[in-house]
Amino acid sequence: MAGPLAGKHIVLGVTGSIACYKALDLASKLVQAGALVDTMLTYGATRFVTPLAFRSLTHRVVVTDIFDPNSEFANEHVALARQADIVVIAPATVHCIAKLAAGLADDPLTTTVIATSAPLLVAPAMDANMFDHPATQENLAKLRGRGVIIAGPAAGRLASGLMGMGRLLETAQLLGHIAATLGRQGDLAGRTIVVSAGGTQEAIDPVRVITNHSSGKMGYALAEAARDRGARVVLVAAPTGLPDPPLVRVVRVRSAQEMAEAVFQEVKHADALIMAAAVADYRPESTAEQKIKKSSAGLSLALTRTTDILAEARGAFVKVGFAAESQDLVENARAKVRAKGLDLIVANDITDPQSGFGVDTNKVTLIDRELRAEELPVLTKYEVGQRVLDRVRELLAESGPGR
Ligand code: CTP
Repeated sequence: MAGPLAGKHIVLGVTGSIACYKALDLASKLVQAGALVDTMLTYGATRFVTPLAFRSLTHRVVVTDIFDPNSEFANEHVALARQADIVVIAPATVHCIAKLAAGLADDPLTTTVIATSAPLLVAPAMDANMFDHPATQENLAKLRGRGVIIAGPAAGRLASGLMGMGRLLETAQLLGHIAATLGRQGDLAGRTIVVSAGGTQEAIDPVRVITNHSSGKMGYALAEAARDRGARVVLVAAPTGLPDPPLVRVVRVRSAQEMAEAVFQEVKHADALIMAAAVADYRPESTAEQKIKKSSAGLSLALTRTTDILAEARGAFVKVGFAAESQDLVENARAKVRAKGLDLIVANDITDPQSGFGVDTNKVTLIDRELRAEELPVLTKYEVGQRVLDRVRELLAESGPGR
């Protein structure tokens, strides 16, 4: 497994909130991602969920009582703190947050927090009034001031039935925060990378568009991979069904023209531009203001070329393109390297079922500006992103320090 969490030691602290049930899902997903998860439940948490449930999911230590002579924690109470790559408290109650702010250490979890030098990520869950209370806000500010990462809470329906701030972040978002925190000192730290994703939509009338089958998955995976190596990432996203990746700045666009404007603006501050978007090459010459009504006659649409964003984006940044080909993959992609002045192109054969639209894997060939081709095996889109970023890092190293 080659994701950002593989082989990482994670101490998962769970405190007494109704959101505890979501911590089980988090533990399960962390384990699936290859992490080694040691869980610490406060007494309050054990009233909502059982240590056995966590043990069954993680197959590792579950600590509940600091004074239990049979617990591994009692024998070696700072060992977990020392080996942890990150401590994650999800959900964190208002009481736990207050204890952390005060530096108290009266249970296994708070003792571990005081003993560790690993980063601490706190995901609050509470009722909106408790979150808004000045004491809670002061405590959270204090923790942030110490470098603690506060992930969430989100707004929405709370267990009390009220609407407001206080929901624990969803598992996928927590996983994104954890991966980003683990990678924040990565080899792209200090770099700004603009990634485009998705298929643009060119309006025919207020109802209809010309678009393509791009799911956006490759661009989103690239954005996440860059974030997990410490880069500041701007994702210029055409419409997709995908949720915003946490800790990535997302600029939403629809048409090729909107994407061009956003990309040209963002690359002014960027070290690299990676165009993974499927940008329409043509758009309707004009967009009808009213819905076009059908008639018995046929209908022809006059189309005009869009701006070639990649070809026209110029500056001192590394420029990476994608080429989706159905024939003569390497030759066609080589021609694009020249035509668009690229440092690298990622060519994929769209007729291959493992690299088509919408799937989670991709089989690509990387072609550099000397037109050398490297064929990669079938990889997940996240792994393809990592391989592309390896090349980007080398190209950036040639071009000097970050902006
Ligand atoms: N691209 C762009 N602006 C466009 C069209 C494409 O920036 N108006 C970018 C894509 O994001 C991708 C690369 O250019 O990185 C793809 O090149 P392109 O020549 O458009 O590929 P195809 O559309 O596959 O070209 P062709 O139709 O010539 O095969």
